[in-house]
Amino acid sequence: MEDNTENNRLKVAIIGCGRVSEKHIRAINRLSDRLILCALVDTNPDAPSHLLSSCRKKIKKYAEFTASIKNYIDYKEMLSDLKPDIVAITVPSGLHFQVAKDCLQSGSHILLEKPMTMSNKTSRELYQLADSLGLCIAMGHIYRYFPIVSLIHEDMASGALGKVGHGSVVVRWGHDNDYYKQAAWRGTWRSDGGALMNQTVHALDLMCYLMNDDALKVKGMMARRFRDMEAEDTAMGVYQFGNGALCQVEGTTATFPNDHEASFFINAEKAAIRISLHKGKPSYSIITPKGKNLAFRYLRRYIKKFGLSYLISVAKNPHYGIYTDLQRAITTRTSPIADGRSGYIAVDMVLGFYRSVAKNTEIELPLASEFKIEEMEKLEL
Ligand SMILES: NC(=O)c1ccc[n+]([C@@H]2O[C@H](COP(=O)([O-])OP(=O)(O)OC[C@H]3O[C@@H](n4cnc5c(N)ncnc54)[C@H](O)[C@@H]3O)[C@@H](O)[C@H]2O)c1
Repeated sequence: MEDNTENNRLKVAIIGCGRVSEKHIRAINRLSDRLILCALVDTNPDAPSHLLSSCRKKIKKYAEFTASIKNYIDYKEMLSDLKPDIVAITVPSGLHFQVAKDCLQSGSHILLEKPMTMSNKTSRELYQLADSLGLCIAMGHIYRYFPIVSLIHEDMASGALGKVGHGSVVVRWGHDNDYYKQAAWRGTWRSDGGALMNQTVHALDLMCYLMNDDALKVKGMMARRFRDMEAEDTAMGVYQFGNGALCQVEGTTATFPNDHEASFFINAEKAAIRISLHKGKPSYSIITPKGKNLAFRYLRRYIKKFGLSYLISVAKNPHYGIYTDLQRAITTRTSPIADGRSGYIAVDMVLGFYRSVAKNTEIELPLASEFKIEEMEKLEL
């Protein structure tokens, strides 16, 4: 790829200026020594200016930061004009595959929001395409970037915390009917999926990261209890990982919107690990067999490794961690922590769950064939 860095900063473009893109803008702004925002793209021509004015107060050196931004409504025109080093893709999930493929083929690294795509076939195609082109995919799997999570991952991988017994995940990420009415794509099988594909996918990815393993089997049940949408608002099931560990999963958007909770438990031989985010407040405990809580020890280790300023920044906005990591991966020619394969595996886990509901049986992972949107649309909830 041609060297189009300005003062060694990587040029970033954002395609899709909706709700989540504000987190991207704030992260790029905080990394202004390494990244420069060159374009905002949206089919709605008013979206870029709305986005910038909505986060104006949170942007440092606003005039300087916005001076480099060009607005586009056609992302292909932007790709050919600017050839950005990184493209952040924050369009509705049903468009991820085509936009991501076009960006990779035009030579940009991508930061792709979750879920990677709506199909296991296209998710695999994307990460293999990126690998073959020597480009990075960083996934918007924010939980991997929460403070101390990477250290727990390291200790699980090294065996320091012993064998994993089992895990449990709760994602009660309530959205009311008004949320699903905000845009026609929300809650549809084709463009969004339900509680599993949209919200719980983060948690499935985190369990793979912490267990350092892929799930090999899934058995699930789903329902649509309260929300006026096509897909499921509640899912419960069990995955079995390659290491034998079972992991129970509850994912729902049918709870109250002001009572968001994502909680994780891993029962390992040498530690009982709890990570939880409730109403925006994080809590961690790592309990030894003798009852000692190692959470502060982990926090000190994290600050020593990454610095207090980094910890505060990722705690406020995990997308800051994703961009920091992607910039590092590009410049060191290594992989991001939440790489393209992790995007594919998480989508495959969700679709395996959906197939298990469709067939009312246990399903082996990774899926041997594509689970198509048409099959999702036939699910009776
Ligand atoms: N990682 C996270 O924490 C997180 C949080 C929220 C949403 N997301 C994901 O981010 C994506 C976007 O979600 P959102 O809530 O911001 O949606 P949104 O509907 O608020 O925004 C999407 C934007 O994309 C624009 N758009 C649609 N088609 C386009 C095209 N062809 N070219 C350019 N722009 C186009 C729309 O006009 C809209 O402004 C989804 O995939 C969602 O799952 C991730």
